[in-house]
Amino acid sequence: MGARGPLRFEPSPRITNRELNALYAQAWPRHRRFDFTPVLRRALVHVCAFEGKELVGFVYLAWDGKQHAFLLEPTVTPRLRRRGVGRELVRRAVEEARKRRVEWVHVDFEPRLARFYRACGFVRAPGGLIDLRSKRRDPPPLAN
Ligand SMILES: CC(C)(COP(=O)(O)OP(=O)(O)OC[C@H]1O[C@@H](n2cnc3c(N)ncnc32)[C@H](O)[C@@H]1OP(=O)(O)O)[C@@H](O)C(=O)NCCC(=O)NCCS
Repeated sequence: MGARGPLRFEPSPRITNRELNALYAQAWPRHRRFDFTPVLRRALVHVCAFEGKELVGFVYLAWDGKQHAFLLEPTVTPRLRRRGVGRELVRRAVEEARKRRVEWVHVDFEPRLARFYRACGFVRAPGGLIDLRSKRRDPPPLAN
């Protein structure tokens, strides 16, 4: 797929903070250096895409320990986007969940990514979110 070597996908390979932070720095505009160790320790699976030795894609599934998994942070290096890498990462993560008898894979996303998640096989389902980063402590009052 690229001049830097063939593309390959691997479930839960050994991966360093340095590699992940380098990928996130390219893909997430507001990324700040992060310790991924506790995230990976708790994840059901993480899937990586490598081009030669370079990490070019990543996704992981958080897990409730039973039948629910939550897909998080699919990330593809900008120069390899729109070539099916993101979809393949998600496909493999979902396949790993299926093998481990997980029954539901959840995701949430901004509206601009609806097409991507539809292409990955997700169907619309009502959901909700509370942003605990915000300063307000009480939920806004419900309108009648
Ligand atoms: C989202 C992301 C992982 C997609 O990776 P990708 O490898 O480019 O996706 P794919 O090539 O597998 O896309 C499959 C399909 O999804 C849709 N799609 C992908 N990216 C899209 C975008 N930015 N806008 C609209 N549709 C998109 C298209 O239908 C695409 O098929 P097409 O190229 O034949 O039209 C990548 O853009 C990324 O890393 N973004 C920054 C991080 C991020 O925001 N992650 C999502 C967090 S919720």
